[in-house]
Amino acid sequence: MALYSEKVMDHFRNPRNVGVIEDADGVGEVGNAKCGDIMKMYLKIDDDIISDVKFETFGCGSAIASSSMATELIKGKPVSEALELTNKAVAEALDGLPAYKMHCSVLAEEAIKSALDDYYTRKGINPKEQ
Ligand code: FES
Repeated sequence: MALYSEKVMDHFRNPRNVGVIEDADGVGEVGNAKCGDIMKMYLKIDDDIISDVKFETFGCGSAIASSSMATELIKGKPVSEALELTNKAVAEALDGLPAYKMHCSVLAEEAIKSALDDYYTRKGINPKEQ
């Protein structure tokens, strides 16, 4: 069996939603200290819906594929759904990742949560009270 699924290879070779949103409503940046990979997520949010999302990932192929898939999974969705996105769901949507590459999908989950945190902070909202 191939180490990486066709979906991983597809999202690695043709990542969706790469780039920057200049007037983003929330920006999150996370990194993994062990591998040194960094992921940055930009969100545009209108009426509680993620109307646009872009990412920049300086990292391995699985991190690029995970960020690409994660952006596809939250685009057009309500903020509440994006908050619930797990790395497991990202990995499953990619038809799996090798066990030692699961942390790459964790980075995608964390980057989205960090961008949503920034969105809430900018709005002066405490998400726990939502
Ligand atoms: Fe660290 Fe992939 S090896 S994010």
